[in-house]
Amino acid sequence: MTRIVVFASGSGSNFQKIKESIDNNQINGKIVLLISNNPNCGAVKFSELNNIDFKIINDYRYNEKKNNQYELVLEKYRPNLILLAGFMKKIPHNIIRIYKNKIMNIHPSLLPKYGGKGYYGMNVHKSVVQNRERITGATVHFVDDNYDKGPIIIQEKVGVDSSDSPDIVSEKVLKIEHKIYSKAIKAFCLNKITIDKDSVIINE
Ligand code: GRF
Repeated sequence: MTRIVVFASGSGSNFQKIKESIDNNQINGKIVLLISNNPNCGAVKFSELNNIDFKIINDYRYNEKKNNQYELVLEKYRPNLILLAGFMKKIPHNIIRIYKNKIMNIHPSLLPKYGGKGYYGMNVHKSVVQNRERITGATVHFVDDNYDKGPIIIQEKVGVDSSDSPDIVSEKVLKIEHKIYSKAIKAFCLNKITIDKDSVIINE
């Protein structure tokens, strides 16, 4: 069974959906730990209510190159898969190196569009509306050292109406996020994902 550690900073709806998919036997995995930088967020409350271990790591000396706190905690929980689900801090280089191709992220746009520095949360959806895009979507990708640039696993599109506000776009995209994140995790847990250079293949 795949041991999963989730990183989240916000409301945690993706985290909750992943747990739901595990409980419904759609994903053969177990969430062994939540890591958050925000003790008051919904994700932490959800883990408390569901008896999932959690650790708050919020070090003001945060070092993007090497962070021993993460390393030590992860060594203890031995994940096979790490899931970023609305985590607002950059993952330090040492963690990316140790868990290469084992860290996934969900991003609320069709990467490479609206990815990179500054494009997170509502900023993405506001830009989509401002630029009068007619299509947006969500992307699940592996995490490497370049923000939002790792190999793409799954993307799905959704239409944007001219009357849609950023909030409406966010709701539409979130629904897709929940769907494709579970799909990607399921494939990973079934060992169906292979990476050839930078291309991801999901073997059916
Ligand atoms: C999602 O839109 C995710 O794509 C982004 O942060 C948001 C987190 O939402 N990275 P939630 O906390 O899972 O509800």
